[in-house]
Amino acid sequence: MLNKEQNEYVTRVGPGTPMGDLMRQYWIPAMLSSELPRPDCPPVRVLLLGERLIGFRDTDGKVGLLGDHCPHRGASLFYARNDDRGLRCVYHGWKFDVRGRCVDMPSEPPDSTFKDKVRATAYPCEERGGVIWTYMGPREVPPPLPDLEANRLPDGQSTAIAYARDCNWLQGLEGDIDTAHIGFLHFGSEDAADAPPDTFRYYTLKDRAPRYAVLDTEYGSMYGAYRPAGPGRYYWRIAQFLFPFFTMTPTGLLGRQVICRAWVPMDDEHMMMFFMRPKPTPDLEEFIQRHVKPPKLLPNTTGWLGRFRLEANEDNDYLLDRDRQERNEEYSGIEGIHTQDQAITESMGPIYDRSREHLGSSDVMVIRVRRRLIASARALAEHGTPPPGVDQPEAYRQRSGGIILDEDADWVEATRDLRQAFVAHPDLDPSIVGGFV
Ligand code: FES
Ligand SMILES: [Fe+2]
Repeated sequence: MLNKEQNEYVTRVGPGTPMGDLMRQYWIPAMLSSELPRPDCPPVRVLLLGERLIGFRDTDGKVGLLGDHCPHRGASLFYARNDDRGLRCVYHGWKFDVRGRCVDMPSEPPDSTFKDKVRATAYPCEERGGVIWTYMGPREVPPPLPDLEANRLPDGQSTAIAYARDCNWLQGLEGDIDTAHIGFLHFGSEDAADAPPDTFRYYTLKDRAPRYAVLDTEYGSMYGAYRPAGPGRYYWRIAQFLFPFFTMTPTGLLGRQVICRAWVPMDDEHMMMFFMRPKPTPDLEEFIQRHVKPPKLLPNTTGWLGRFRLEANEDNDYLLDRDRQERNEEYSGIEGIHTQDQAITESMGPIYDRSREHLGSSDVMVIRVRRRLIASARALAEHGTPPPGVDQPEAYRQRSGGIILDEDADWVEATRDLRQAFVAHPDLDPSIVGGFV
């Protein structure tokens, strides 16, 4: 558990908060590229770390992210005209480019140089793998983008989706580094006898209370959850937390699985999850539709909280089906892995008061990550220490996944090569996963 002061410290991310300052050291996923589908398309309201921003794509295809309020007298730049290399405020016609420079000020006399003195808040943007990244930090020259494999595969092979969630970012992230809930929330109705024998799925369903090993790394923290896998062997699920809010979950086969999620705060009580991965093959897509059951999304609106919202939400009890639950066809009665996670983490409230929780041995990774976040934010606030990974993009070349090891193997040493991103292992056979786990 955290005391109330620690809970505030680790969850709040607005400008000037310690955790907000920590996040502003890093590149942050702000939008999907598809939200700005063409040059000079309509601007989009983007809420990020408690700041109201306007995203737009200019005539040259470059992306800008400007503060909502026009520097003149504060009209919202959402209503601006987007044409000829910039956003033009419709109140008095001042125009700003992607770097926030005022490039035209038609309401002033032609000989005025006032426009050279006016700047809009503007955050640099980079596009990669279908994601628009932004840097909201203090450096003149931003650090490099993190070398996340799922976001930087060759020839447009990366893909990304986004889902909004109505709760604090840390609640979302903690759900993703909590392996223990898989055997209940997602697969509580399934029986080991129905899983293909000697597969990851079989071992997961057979023993729902794994043991854990955790350790700190240069980019964050890593855990291995292990349970028996036949005589003298363990099935290990190895997963990553990478600063400041990235996760790599262990659902596939270590060495073959490429995955990354970002749990990005929109403000303290809302977040956007960005899910980056290789483009699925048609077979895999069919598998995902059948087993993972991705949530249906409502059409995006132009509101601050209007992007990537789920059809299943608190107002309709996430389309909970008590009959299916009673027949034990679905443990939670809620359909779809993501929707189940969404329902449960939102049900904890906008910012859960962690002074009231009772942590068990399965929460060891959650505890470790909180501790690291707090310590790193404190080191930055008190000593100006750059937080982990900011200047080491290569530290993000990580993978997660499952593996069978001999019981006396050192899980860190034995998996060193397989955890390396950008290395092909065509010899490894993913059929040992045995379905979705
Ligand atoms: S408020 Fe934007 S130009 Fe006047
Ligand atoms: Fe989950």
